[in-house]
Amino acid sequence: MKLSLRQKFSFIFISLLVFVTIFSSAFTNYELQRYYRYQIGRQLETQLDAVEYFILYDANLQQPPDPDFYTYISGVAQASGLRLTLIDSLGTVIYDSNVSPDSLFAVENHISRPEVRKALKEGHGSHERTSATINEPLFYSAKTIDHPTIRVIRLAIPLVEINQVLRDVRWKIFIGGGLALLIFGFIGTYLANRIASPILKLSRAAESVKKGNLEAYFIKETQDELGELADVLNEMLSKLRQDLIQMRRLEKVRSQFLGNVSHELRTPIFAVQGYLETMLNDTNCDAETQKKFIAKAYNQAVRLNNLFTDLIDISRIESGEMKLTFTAFNAVKWLKNQVKDLQASANENGIHLSFSNPAGLHKALILGDQERLNQVLVNLVENAIKYNRPQGTVEVGLAPLGDQIEIFIRDSGRGIAEDHLPRIFERFYRVDKERSRAVGGTGLGLAIVKHIIEAHGSQVKVDSWVGEGSTFRFTLKIIKEGRS
Ligand SMILES: Nc1ncnc2c1ncn2[C@@H]1O[C@H](COP(=O)(O)OP(=O)(O)O)[C@@H](O)[C@H]1O
Ligand SMILES: [Mg+2]
Repeated sequence: MKLSLRQKFSFIFISLLVFVTIFSSAFTNYELQRYYRYQIGRQLETQLDAVEYFILYDANLQQPPDPDFYTYISGVAQASGLRLTLIDSLGTVIYDSNVSPDSLFAVENHISRPEVRKALKEGHGSHERTSATINEPLFYSAKTIDHPTIRVIRLAIPLVEINQVLRDVRWKIFIGGGLALLIFGFIGTYLANRIASPILKLSRAAESVKKGNLEAYFIKETQDELGELADVLNEMLSKLRQDLIQMRRLEKVRSQFLGNVSHELRTPIFAVQGYLETMLNDTNCDAETQKKFIAKAYNQAVRLNNLFTDLIDISRIESGEMKLTFTAFNAVKWLKNQVKDLQASANENGIHLSFSNPAGLHKALILGDQERLNQVLVNLVENAIKYNRPQGTVEVGLAPLGDQIEIFIRDSGRGIAEDHLPRIFERFYRVDKERSRAVGGTGLGLAIVKHIIEAHGSQVKVDSWVGEGSTFRFTLKIIKEGRS
């Protein structure tokens, strides 16, 4: 059988109550009985002393077998309302207030009655039993006296009445106990409910959480350990909620990314497919057109390749798979060389690319992953070239800034409108989709740049004015510098 907490509490409480009630009733009953017996014994002893006094010291009293003695003694017995028996030293009953004198001969010898035997031995004795003579429960008290014919005087009190009283009292104790049991039973059940109720509420809330309801709340009803438990559980739940929100957000970002990726891939693949199909179906296609189509398909393949390269990069960066290898190198020399390498691309696009070193630094030792920083620079300079105006300029430079070195890429391009500015570092975000596609962009360049610079403990910043140009800048920590 599975008991609820509430039932267990009630059960324990009521069991305790029943035990205490029964035990205390029994104890009271026992003590009461003992007290009554004691009182009766005392009363009979006093009466025996009185009877002894009458027999031994009343000068007017005739002695047995004189009939006046019996008349007198009967009066005494009657007045006390007790049964009086006089016994000689052989145990023969010579008087009994409950037996007429002419029937006395039939009364059994009393020498072996327990109270008589004890009185003969110790001077006094008492005993409780159902009388063989009158068939009633009696309490006997006997005492020996110093008299020529009477050896033992004995008084007996009927217990019927007293037993009745005791029975009444016992009944009252029983009813009282029962009543107390009932009242305390109710109180106990109420208390059990009060103790169990907050636990029950906690367990219900936990059940609700188990079913997936993270909005559940553990009610704090008391300031004790249960209250503390409720606090801890609520705290745990709110952490869980936060984790879940984070997880859902990541999930959303991930699925958005996947959607973007598949969309980005589909476009060049379809384009390639289209060009090839056209050439296959168009049987009388001249060599010129064919070459044009192949060039277009090739461009799309290049774009696809760029996309794959960037995708692999970004996913390796974001999964933490890409480890940076830091080395110390001279940023001045490095930047100068990079600009030199990018000159060809600038020329191709008719852009004037220059290197500027206003502070005249010849050495600035920095710590970084050169390979990745190359990637950053290429991305930023390529953007500056691609999103420039015809015959525009791009200036790549560096300047000390406290214990850092600032590297900037400034262009005379179209600029970026303010509302786009905060989003250009997002994956696949492009201000002008057509332009980006036309120049072979993937929309991932700046996202990769941001990741790499952040991995160097820094940030990329951008200032831009529409129609005038943009400046991208980031700083790196200098370990050692030297000026010319
Ligand atoms: N120097 C710049 N001048 C103007 N717009 C820029 C510049 N750099 C980046 N952008 C804008 O930010 C977008 C995101 O850049 P990027 O992440 O490098 O992707 P893309 O592959 O399109 O170049 C570009 O599509 C472009 O619209
Ligand atoms: Mg780019």
